[in-house]
Amino acid sequence: MNRPQLGPASKVLILTGAGVSAESGVPTFRGIGGLWEGRRVEEVASPEGFDADAKTVWRFYSLRREGAAKVAPNPGHLAIAKLEEKLGDRLLLATQNVDGLHARAGSKRMICIHGELFKTRCEQCNVPFDDDKTYFDAVPICPECKTGRLRPHIVWFGEMLNPAHLTQIDDFIESAGNELVFFAIGTSGQVYPAAGFVDAARRVGGTCWLVDVDPSPDYAARFDHVVRGKSGEVLPHLFGV
Ligand code: APR
Repeated sequence: MNRPQLGPASKVLILTGAGVSAESGVPTFRGIGGLWEGRRVEEVASPEGFDADAKTVWRFYSLRREGAAKVAPNPGHLAIAKLEEKLGDRLLLATQNVDGLHARAGSKRMICIHGELFKTRCEQCNVPFDDDKTYFDAVPICPECKTGRLRPHIVWFGEMLNPAHLTQIDDFIESAGNELVFFAIGTSGQVYPAAGFVDAARRVGGTCWLVDVDPSPDYAARFDHVVRGKSGEVLPHLFGV
């Protein structure tokens, strides 16, 4: 297998998507056809969906909390955490996954750009807090202000990413310049701005790798190297960890 050359000045940006958690048993979004109980996922993962039926939205996320609590990190998550041990702050992980498996595998220099399943925040106070509870019966109300509804700390369809997260990623790319090695792993490249990181990496002269069991052709065309395979099988060899 062709392997990336990582020198002493290399900086590694890793973008992960649902495919990295597939081998742990977490279904990918497009793998389930974008449907949940016959509804489009956009209907339950959006501010409009929450306004229309907050109880159903909490049921969806409560089931996802139960599901994520039962699974464990796989060798793909572990390989990324081991590469971070070697590179320290020359590595940054941006994950689109909300399942918490990267953190459980030991990743620390990590940005959860689409939010975190095991965090909740009040619609009014807006301060996220750790929360592994499930809410099947009623929409929870904020224990602090006693009036605001609690919602999952997830970036829903139609919502903006945290600008501080994007700045951190931009700064990392700029500071790396042509020493940047960018990996996109297990993502179909359909959701922006994450899908545009490869273009930013190319602009500074970085080298771009895609690892995916079934790469989307349009997305793959923007990479220097495409490795077809399961992340849990490919990454330990690719990273030499
Ligand atoms: N190893 C590597 N890649 C895999 C594996 C695997 N074991 N299993 C599946 N894949 C690949 C699929 O081929 C696909 O290209 O993972 C990708 C998953 O794509 P999506 O389901 O579209 O997930 P993702 O790109 O993470 O979605 C982005 O969209 O659903 C929203 O906000 C949600 O963060 C999510 C975003």
